[in-house]
Amino acid sequence: MAKQLRKPRPTGLVLGVNLGKSRTTPLESAAEEYAELFRWFAPLADYLAINVSSPNTIGLRSLQARQELEVLLGELARQRREFGRIVPILVKLSPDLTDAELEGALDAILSSGMDGVIATNTSVERSGVRSTLAAESGGLSGAPLRLRSTNLVRRIHQLTNGSLPIVGVGGVMDASDAREKLEAGACLVQIYTALVYHGPAVVQRILREL
Ligand SMILES: Cc1cc2nc3c(=O)[nH]c(=O)nc-3n(C[C@H](O)[C@H](O)[C@H](O)COP(=O)(O)O)c2cc1C
Repeated sequence: MAKQLRKPRPTGLVLGVNLGKSRTTPLESAAEEYAELFRWFAPLADYLAINVSSPNTIGLRSLQARQELEVLLGELARQRREFGRIVPILVKLSPDLTDAELEGALDAILSSGMDGVIATNTSVERSGVRSTLAAESGGLSGAPLRLRSTNLVRRIHQLTNGSLPIVGVGGVMDASDAREKLEAGACLVQIYTALVYHGPAVVQRILREL
């Protein structure tokens, strides 16, 4: 990936790189591994996203707990000071956090000087999903996730008094979904599943209609 990213890129393109620990790396070594990933990708990215919220890597989400997150983000803050250039770091959160867990995670994010959050990753919840595939394990994305993600964006905005930049993501399929995230307090919006259903043209359509 680093080799690809060293190639020339279109001017004006803002590139974020999402870092997550490997499935086989024990949680005790997670901070070390994220630090190594930081050293690889900080020189190549405009911002870094710290994925501690994918349900598809066993145990990963436990890194969102206040203490674990303080250790991890403290190490990343240290790496960033040594690196010298202030690469923005955004922490990506799960929609399945309880309010108490969210407060703990936000404390760790603010006290370590991180630049914002990405809300949210996929969910293990299946409420409202009627498909026979609802019992499958793994993260749920797309339309059934939309409100859950928006509610977390709104809660983060409330808890931080709007002081922490929020990237809203989860079930954004059209302009009105994007507007919902912005009205809940997001300052940027990401899409993923919409690209599968509507192709890359969906980006222009959303921007035109916003
Ligand atoms: C197949 C698939 C792979 C994903 N891989 C990652 C990942 O590696 N890291 C991450 O932080 N989020 C990952 N996500 C989560 C998405 O980036 C996004 O946060 C989530 O799907 C909600 O947005 P959406 O409803 O627009 O898809 C993945 C989602 C899907 C569906």
